[in-house]
Amino acid sequence: MANVFAITNQKGGVGKTTTCVNLAASLVATRRKVLLIDLDPQGNATMGSGVDKHSCEYSVCDLLLGEAELDQVRVKANPAGYDLLPANSDLTTAEVQLLQLDGAHFRLKKVLSDLKDSYDYILIDCPPSLNMLTVNALTASDGVIIPVQCEYYALEGLSSLTETIQHIQETVNPDLSIEGLLRTMYDPRNSLTRDVSQQLIEHFGDKVYGTVIPRNVRLAEAPSHGMPVLMYDGKSKGSLAYLALASELVRKSGQAA
Ligand SMILES: Nc1ncnc2c1ncn2[C@@H]1O[C@H](COP(=O)(O)OP(=O)(O)O)[C@@H](O)[C@H]1O
Ligand SMILES: [Mg+2]
Repeated sequence: MANVFAITNQKGGVGKTTTCVNLAASLVATRRKVLLIDLDPQGNATMGSGVDKHSCEYSVCDLLLGEAELDQVRVKANPAGYDLLPANSDLTTAEVQLLQLDGAHFRLKKVLSDLKDSYDYILIDCPPSLNMLTVNALTASDGVIIPVQCEYYALEGLSSLTETIQHIQETVNPDLSIEGLLRTMYDPRNSLTRDVSQQLIEHFGDKVYGTVIPRNVRLAEAPSHGMPVLMYDGKSKGSLAYLALASELVRKSGQAA
């Protein structure tokens, strides 16, 4: 039975998509079966997985709206080896259309109910807002992974995110928990990084992953080649960091082989 994790933070540019794509590839490298769901209309996780968002006949939008079958939508991310439910700008309209459907919160959960037995991990890349797509992700998930860039305003948005998580727990998904906070674009020479990092640990304790993701140019370059950094430059610091994160996650989520 898969662990389902939403990678979310309503701030843009904190490393959600980078984490999804590279964690998915790293989990495959540890022989886990992985599904990545792109739930951001920008389709960055789709493109970063080597799938052209413009040429997808069907996308995750069609699944949410019940207008396509799973096997029409699901594609393989090559060379990384995980499965992908791609997204493109169609998802923008889905957000509005969803609200007119019964059980709008539960559409993704319903899609996943048929899929959970086929994977070890399902990762969901969320859009940079707390909208109906994100609510669908949180409703369908067991845990939330929150990438945090250790900069001045990093902590500001976290309280509204934790309030949203709490609200989802109290209403539609009592089992939802914070799986972990991930420090991204980490620069230990920068005193602000160290201060914010310290505050995160004070607030969230051992929910903060021991693994940190350094700022690494290879991580920024890999998406333009349509592949995770593990395939683009497997020896880079970014690649090693995401492999370490995958090991930590496997240990914590109790799926060690
Ligand atoms: N650890 C990192 N080192 C260097 N660049 C990074 C790192 N993580 C993300 N980036 C770059 O920062 C930008 C934002 O990252 P992204 O993962 O798209 O964030 P989000 O999905 O939260 O908006 C992208 O251009 C990405 O390539
Ligand atoms: Mg993104």
